[in-house]
Amino acid sequence: MARLLITGGAGFIGSHTCVVLLNAGHDLVIVDSFANSSPIATARVANISGLTPNQEKERLVIIEGDIRDEGALSSIFENATKQNQPIEGVIHLAGLKSVMESITQPLKYWDVNVNGSRCLLSIMEAHNCRTIVFSSSATIYGNPESFPIAEVDPIQPINPYGATKAAVESMLSNLQGNKAIWHIACLRYFNPVGAHPSGLIGEDPKNIPNNLFPLVCQVAIDRRKLLNVFGGDWPTPDGTCIRDYIHIMDLAEGHLAAINSLLRKESNYLTLNIGTGKGYSVLEIINEFEKTSGEKIAYKIVNRRDGDTAISLADPSQANKKISWRATRNIEDICRDSWNWQRLNPTGFTMDKVI
Ligand SMILES: NC(=O)c1ccc[n+]([C@@H]2O[C@H](COP(=O)([O-])OP(=O)(O)OC[C@H]3O[C@@H](n4cnc5c(N)ncnc54)[C@H](O)[C@@H]3O)[C@@H](O)[C@H]2O)c1
Repeated sequence: MARLLITGGAGFIGSHTCVVLLNAGHDLVIVDSFANSSPIATARVANISGLTPNQEKERLVIIEGDIRDEGALSSIFENATKQNQPIEGVIHLAGLKSVMESITQPLKYWDVNVNGSRCLLSIMEAHNCRTIVFSSSATIYGNPESFPIAEVDPIQPINPYGATKAAVESMLSNLQGNKAIWHIACLRYFNPVGAHPSGLIGEDPKNIPNNLFPLVCQVAIDRRKLLNVFGGDWPTPDGTCIRDYIHIMDLAEGHLAAINSLLRKESNYLTLNIGTGKGYSVLEIINEFEKTSGEKIAYKIVNRRDGDTAISLADPSQANKKISWRATRNIEDICRDSWNWQRLNPTGFTMDKVI
């Protein structure tokens, strides 16, 4: 088992990934600025993982900090080495993820996502830590010509957010070309959704959500009156966008499989699609969610949104082949766990109570 640094570990993907990594026996240091998350999420990670206060001190260290702060990152690596538990690998999730915001504030996205990653990588190199799993995105494929999308398909992002993810992948591939041996996995997530089955952690964006599931949940719980469906004239069977939704626990298990494979030095460089290979339209999701929750989802079809594509669907076979991972949860599990999280936490983590 290893000591790992999880950047952005308090966020949606980070918190679920931490639960799975702790359960597998890894010890974690989280660095997070809490720009889009809450410390309550990390307290709940400790709770779900059954850590006693003493174990928590050893196994789940939380540091508030920014990945662009090289001094702060350096201290994390130095302190871990001083304690005789050097950081052996990094799961890099810290970053900004709104396509719309990236269009209006591209420099902010290049600074946090690209410059932040460069800072992290240079500090890793300085401390001889060369094992990293990076949170890439299906967005880098832009408007693919055929489906399902394979890792060898062209990288042609159509928005600044996707461009920053593609740039970090290039940076990582340049490192891999260097003589010093790195072990790198770029995981290209499709659409992560759902929540931990306990209902203790889930997606809780600080601002107006950009993604379908948090919006559907917020309409179901009456936090929002109406769901805007962006475009009813896409070239799909019902005219709404089709996405490959992956349960967050499947995604978290994908991180465990990837980091373990890298730590075993099975590969130097992996780029893997992390999806299910099955697509659902927005209207199909509304229908499934209504069935599971028993709540009516009021919606309105509005204009298409800048930066969107009609279909996004993964060919996840390489992940199965290279790291023996595949998604095991289905759309009913996704709707049930999303709704459970929303019902138990109608205002997300802001209630400030540990259930
Ligand atoms: N959720 C998705 O749909 C999706 C899809 C593909 C890729 N990704 C990528 O996966 C990663 C995690 O996504 P998520 O859904 O958990 O998002 P999230 O916003 O919930 O988590 C990101 C975390 O990073 C932290 N953070 C932001 N800027 C930081 C900085 N400068 N320094 C330190 N911490 C910082 C935030 O506070 C947050 O806790 C992101 O890089 C995102 O781009 C997400």
